[in-house]
Amino acid sequence: MKAILLDAPGPPSSLRVGELEDPVPSPNEVLVRVQATSLNPVDFKVAAIGSDLWTYPHVLGVDAAGIIEQAGAKVSNWLPGDRVFYHTTWRRPGTYAELNTVPSHTIARIPESVNYVDAAAIPCAGLTAYSSLYRRLHANSGDLVLVHSGSGGVGGFAIQLAKRAGATVVTTCSAANTDYVRKLGADQVIITGAKTYSSELERSRVRGFLMRLSIISARGMASIICACSHRREAWPLSPAYPIYLG
Ligand SMILES: NC(=O)c1ccc[n+]([C@@H]2O[C@H](COP(=O)([O-])OP(=O)(O)OC[C@H]3O[C@@H](n4cnc5c(N)ncnc54)[C@H](OP(=O)(O)O)[C@@H]3O)[C@@H](O)[C@H]2O)c1
Repeated sequence: MKAILLDAPGPPSSLRVGELEDPVPSPNEVLVRVQATSLNPVDFKVAAIGSDLWTYPHVLGVDAAGIIEQAGAKVSNWLPGDRVFYHTTWRRPGTYAELNTVPSHTIARIPESVNYVDAAAIPCAGLTAYSSLYRRLHANSGDLVLVHSGSGGVGGFAIQLAKRAGATVVTTCSAANTDYVRKLGADQVIITGAKTYSSELERSRVRGFLMRLSIISARGMASIICACSHRREAWPLSPAYPIYLG
């Protein structure tokens, strides 16, 4: 199969297109013919440092949408031809390839109305926002939710999911993305880089963000903070460390 290969830890410019043996699914896995994948910050972050778990050349990529080519011997609920999408782990050979194997219990069917490209854009960013807001923070009607970088992949899903829970959403973004985040549903937008940014943010916090979940790059790039009001317990986190939601 053709794949985009990383020969050693390094920057995105060191990737190359090459050939690898086709992967073979184990009994509980399916083999997927990848139709679309997505680029996420985690890809270039792990590429830069590499991992002892990888065999080089390594294939990056954590999101995929595609067609099941073959089901493992113990897989009974999926058939060749099924359209599926999924989020895999960076620890395994990834999705920047024509074929990828994945545990069958981790895949979902793509609705008929959704194309492969749109489906592949959902898993990493969407699951992060979903897990943060619904499983950790339990965002609810009446909450005040702060989403940093609402214009990004995670932030964009976080705004929409917080609104769906009935919360009021404050978000930050650069000036050029103001209209975009408002279209996603943000009630208040704080423009990053503006002189008022710190004081506006501080005012929002003073208004009562009692619990927060930070998903912040150790390098400061592209952060989101989801914060909910009306919570008894504070969850202090160092902004220097990202949270891995598992
Ligand atoms: N499980 C996890 O822990 C997990 C999962 C997914 C993502 N993450 C992390 O969450 C962060 C956001 O991921 P994402 O997929 O939402 O990223 P993204 O789509 O690239 O969004 C990044 C957003 O951050 C803003 N930004 C602020 N400063 C920036 C800078 N210096 N460079 C680039 N963008 C900047 C940009 O919006 P404006 O221009 O409007 O400011 C941009 O829209 C990343 O650090 C990622 O690694 C963690």
